[in-house]
Amino acid sequence: MALKEALLLLLFKCCAKKLGKSVVLIESGRHLGGVTSGGLGFTDYGDKSAIIGLAEDFYHRIGVKYGKTTETYTFEPHVAEVVYNSYITEANVSVFFDYRIISAKIVDKKVESIVVEKSSDSQISTNVVITAKMFIDCSYEGDLMSRANISYTFGRESNALHNETHNGVQMLTKHQFPDGIDPYVIPGNKSSGLLWGISDETLARQGSGDKKIQSFNYRICLTNNKTNRIDITKPDNYNPQHFQLLIRLIEKTKPKSMRSFLKQDLMPNHKTDFNNEGPFSTDAIAMNYEYPDGSYETRKKIVKQHEDYNKGFLYFVGHDPQVPQHLRDEMLTWGYPKDEYKDNNHWTHQLYIRESRRMSGQYLMTERNALGTDVVTDGIAMASYRMDSHNAERVVVNGMVKNEGDVQWPQNYPHPYPVSYGSVVPKSSECHNVLVPVCLSATHIAYGSIRMEYTFMELGEASAVAAVMALEANTSVQEVDTKALKEKLNIK
Ligand SMILES: *[C@@H]1O[C@H](CO)[C@@H](O)[C@H](O)[C@H]1NC(C)=O
Ligand SMILES: *[C@@H]1O[C@H](CO)[C@@H](O)[C@H](O)[C@H]1NC(C)=O
Ligand SMILES: *[C@@H]1O[C@H](CO)[C@@H](O)[C@H](O)[C@H]1NC(C)=O
Ligand SMILES: *[C@@H]1O[C@H](CO)[C@@H](O)[C@H](O)[C@H]1NC(C)=O
Ligand SMILES: *[C@@H]1O[C@H](CO)[C@@H](O)[C@H](O)[C@H]1NC(C)=O
Ligand SMILES: *[C@@H]1O[C@H](CO)[C@@H](O)[C@H](O)[C@H]1NC(C)=O
Repeated sequence: MALKEALLLLLFKCCAKKLGKSVVLIESGRHLGGVTSGGLGFTDYGDKSAIIGLAEDFYHRIGVKYGKTTETYTFEPHVAEVVYNSYITEANVSVFFDYRIISAKIVDKKVESIVVEKSSDSQISTNVVITAKMFIDCSYEGDLMSRANISYTFGRESNALHNETHNGVQMLTKHQFPDGIDPYVIPGNKSSGLLWGISDETLARQGSGDKKIQSFNYRICLTNNKTNRIDITKPDNYNPQHFQLLIRLIEKTKPKSMRSFLKQDLMPNHKTDFNNEGPFSTDAIAMNYEYPDGSYETRKKIVKQHEDYNKGFLYFVGHDPQVPQHLRDEMLTWGYPKDEYKDNNHWTHQLYIRESRRMSGQYLMTERNALGTDVVTDGIAMASYRMDSHNAERVVVNGMVKNEGDVQWPQNYPHPYPVSYGSVVPKSSECHNVLVPVCLSATHIAYGSIRMEYTFMELGEASAVAAVMALEANTSVQEVDTKALKEKLNIK
């Protein structure tokens, strides 16, 4: 039940304090806020009217930190963390940092207790049993959900499964290689082998399902303030061969700026949130397939591989002699910020997990909800972003390298649409006292729209209010009166 994003906010404000419920927050790492305090300072949103409740309050408090009176959506990592911590202090909530779940005890379709262990140094003697009446799994991974035997899936459904059009394998044009980029180590010579990062699998039929995951990366905070800057040095396991496709891309497209392969969003105080851009960038395509169901050990390895890949990318652009001088010079103006992530070598604590497990809950959100053709009546949060899936594989098609999986659809931002309460509760036949606001019940393609941070915050807030209602009425989470819940959340 590691708490990510602002899901905690309501838990504290409402449950713990106002409603007299006691709350314990368990965070697997050492920081609250997930990717929001971990580098994602460039907030994605569609129509701002979808940002409501404590999510709005969060962005308002960020604004106040920068001396503004309005909501502010671009910010530095440490500022987001200070704001998260302010909610904790105000509500006087105890946080178990550095603990993660190992098992759950179920009695009569209810989680009675869970056992957590120290994440950094697990030993039976430091394990803790936590007994509670309600559990909210706010993690990116859904480990409480899985330990509680609540059904879930991951990967991409076929379009046929739920009558969708943009799910499954999608070979489209955004973040795509231009035609003519050779995939082989020796151009034109198949027996020389594929360049690093290219799969030898055959491209599957458009719209077919699989267990591939949209790629992860880090949202990278760097600074170009010389006094605050630490040089980017060669990372562990550095291998320039991993970046040869970037050289072929640069030869083909002759970019004037590195911004063509590194999305640069400026943050206050001369910092950035660097994100993926184009066909070959920080997204570590295909490196995450084992993540959703992986053991803690497996995930740790995957996280390290992503860190090495992203740091290696930055180092390569700044130092490799094959990179044109003007691009190297541009990269070298940036460095790790001295005043961020001080306990983690100035590197973020949070990998950007765009998607992992997804519950098979009471209601399944599909692309029709995100398009507004199916509208739920038990909406407890709003979403308003286009369906956004990053690439999931890199393959050879007609002798050329191509990415597959990137979908940005529809082109315009959807009108704010409601996310069903049924998508955060398990099936009634499975479990009665767990809510799952992040690994919620949605198809891969619908998740691409719902997964924006403010919507997670709203879903977390709603889950906390619902948990209190279920406690007070002595009912299951499935029996919560959603009309009353919507009223409490001020959702029409
Ligand atoms: C916070 O909790 C501690 C320990 O339970 C208690 O001593 C203290 O009075 C509480 N403070 C507030 C402001 O509620
Ligand atoms: C979950 O299901 C497995 C397989 O049926 C079973 O062995 C395990 O005890 C269940 N876990 C809990 C917490 O009930
Ligand atoms: C599939 O969805 C379309 C809208 O996208 C709808 O018109 C059609 O009736 C649906 N078909 C089935 C079998 O549900
Ligand atoms: C192709 O690559 C293989 C393996 O590296 C090498 O043995 C062979 O000589 C190459 N062929 C040509 C025509 O370069
Ligand atoms: C650059 O960083 C230094 C050290 O943190 C700080 O004192 C200075 O104000 C910063 N300069 C600018 C222009 O922000
Ligand atoms: C809550 O409901 C259960 C049955 O659903 C019942 O056994 C229990 O006594 C109830 N508790 C209270 C405090 O009403």
